[in-house]
Amino acid sequence: MTATMKLVSSVRRLGCVLAFCFLALFLWGLPVARALDNGLAMTPTMGWLHWERFMCNVNCQEEPDSCVSEKLFLQIAEIMASDGWKDVGYEYLCIDDCWMAPERDSEGRLQADSKRFPGGIRRLANYVHSKGLKLGIYADVGNKTCAGFPGSFGYYDIDAETFADWGVDLLKFDGCYCDSIKHLADGYKHMSLALNRTGRSIVYSCEWPLYMWPIFKPNYTEIREYCNHWRNFADVYDSWQSIRSILDWTTSNQERIVPVAGPGGWNDPDMLVIGNFGLSRDQQITQMALWAIMAAPLLMSNDLRHISLEAKALLQDKDVIAINQDPLGKQGYRLRKVQ
Ligand SMILES: *[C@@H]1O[C@H](CO)[C@@H](O)[C@H](O)[C@H]1NC(C)=O
Ligand SMILES: *[C@@H]1O[C@H](CO)[C@@H](O)[C@H](O)[C@H]1NC(C)=O
Ligand SMILES: *[C@@H]1O[C@H](CO)[C@@H](O)[C@H](O)[C@H]1NC(C)=O
Repeated sequence: MTATMKLVSSVRRLGCVLAFCFLALFLWGLPVARALDNGLAMTPTMGWLHWERFMCNVNCQEEPDSCVSEKLFLQIAEIMASDGWKDVGYEYLCIDDCWMAPERDSEGRLQADSKRFPGGIRRLANYVHSKGLKLGIYADVGNKTCAGFPGSFGYYDIDAETFADWGVDLLKFDGCYCDSIKHLADGYKHMSLALNRTGRSIVYSCEWPLYMWPIFKPNYTEIREYCNHWRNFADVYDSWQSIRSILDWTTSNQERIVPVAGPGGWNDPDMLVIGNFGLSRDQQITQMALWAIMAAPLLMSNDLRHISLEAKALLQDKDVIAINQDPLGKQGYRLRKVQ
């Protein structure tokens, strides 16, 4: 049995718990809408993102090994390059919220917290690039980031230029502290164009539809013209309940979101939490299989310095990754629900 078949059969065994059956999509027929024209994310982005595992831990005094700091990213970069992660495709090392200093500098530019990132982002980017990897960073379309650090509202151009200048390769742009749908849409579009004007290739990861849903149904054709991937639903947590709620949301909305996915633009069901504490072995296998079938960005959030051999083998399974990275880029969908 190939690893893929083993995964599929494990998923089948979980049938009564899971109650889902996905199939690769061939018949959805519609031509995929125009994608953001930056030549990036032609297959789903693969990498690592600190949020689910390390969250906003800024306490480097008491927890020097698990606070959001330069040291953490240097160590993860080293491991991504040396432990086979880069070789199977995990390329983007991504910083989430809580990297910033509480204030902009005297020229209005964002700056990293100088205690936790003494070398600044540029030096970190240089190191990450020297390992053959790419660096992702985080900012917010509104007045503050979700954790309360400076937002990009009013600073979209200067922030895009700052990121390009530092050598950043991906921007995750959050949607907290944004007071209207118009500011949200205008802000996401403005930043997309600002990134383009820098001339640097920067993957643009949006949360635009997530913040739009409560007010009205997003226009995914439009979002795809501006973003390389977009979050639709709440943050993932390290629990089966969270994974299930994401799958439930995805299948309930599949007619709206599946047709729009394809090379250059993807639905983002959030991070892989494989290798942490909350999922059983079968549940970890299920997340890997379904994220692959959903053509989801594969952004792990775990501690690569301390990960079981089993979780590592699952995350590095080349057959499953090949399904996720299929160049056709058709997102699988639920064919029927098994009770
Ligand atoms: C900017 O957009 C144009 C098309 O609108 C595209 O040809 C170009 O490659 C883009 N540049 C970058 C750096 O994304
Ligand atoms: C940011 O705050 C200013 C001042 O309170 C407000 O006018 C503006 O609409 C806010 N912007 C967003 C995106 O919420
Ligand atoms: C959605 O956006 C596309 C592209 O911007 C536009 O052509 C289309 O009319 C929009 N659809 C709706 C229902 O507004």
